[in-house]
Amino acid sequence: MEITNAEFVISNTDVKKCPAGTFPEYAFIGRSNVGKSSLINMLTSRKGLAMTSSTPGKTMLINHFLINNSWYLVDLPGYGYAKRGQKGKEQIQKVIEDYILDREQMTNLFVLIDSRLEPQKIDLEFMEWLGENGIPFSIVFTKSDKLKGGRLKMNINAYLQDLRKQWEELPPYFISSSENHTGRTEILDYIETINKEINTK
Ligand code: GTP
Ligand code: MG
Repeated sequence: MEITNAEFVISNTDVKKCPAGTFPEYAFIGRSNVGKSSLINMLTSRKGLAMTSSTPGKTMLINHFLINNSWYLVDLPGYGYAKRGQKGKEQIQKVIEDYILDREQMTNLFVLIDSRLEPQKIDLEFMEWLGENGIPFSIVFTKSDKLKGGRLKMNINAYLQDLRKQWEELPPYFISSSENHTGRTEILDYIETINKEINTK
């Protein structure tokens, strides 16, 4: 799929103020600094569209980007950023939860996982919560450019093995790098397939 148009629409803390209408949307979630905003820029080939930072906690709001005038990419704040303090963490948690549970247009959630790390409790628990609430999601293993091929495969296989303990059926998963554009075609094709399914309904 070609992205011919990508524009920032609105930032929110309130799910009720997100754009009206029925365009499907695809949201990106994961721990702070995992690469959500960078992935949106990589997918759209627009470097400064979503704001990124090497300091965790950059994205604080729900950000809607309209793509090809027909669907949205949504950048969400990261979870589990300790320096926000308890109250700050709870506020962000509520923004994220309200969006995920209440936003009917949310068609698929991409859960981003740092491909360099061992399975983290916070991510596994988050995906369990998604399952309990029947939220459709897939996984993106990010920053794959930071690992050599063998190591990358080993990490991802270990991760999938861990997930199998929790899940009878694994969610779709992708491997990405915002540095060298790994996974771009696969993720955009996946979105396109879902968009087509929705349009033929
Ligand atoms: P918050 O908004 O703070 O939750 O973070 P985020 O998940 O949006 O992460 P962001 O995209 O801002 O990226 C965090 C840092 O990781 C930045 O310094 C990025 O340049 C870097 N980064 C993101 N993706 C990649 C990647 O695929 N490869 C490499 N090498 N670095 C990446
Ligand atoms: Mg961000």
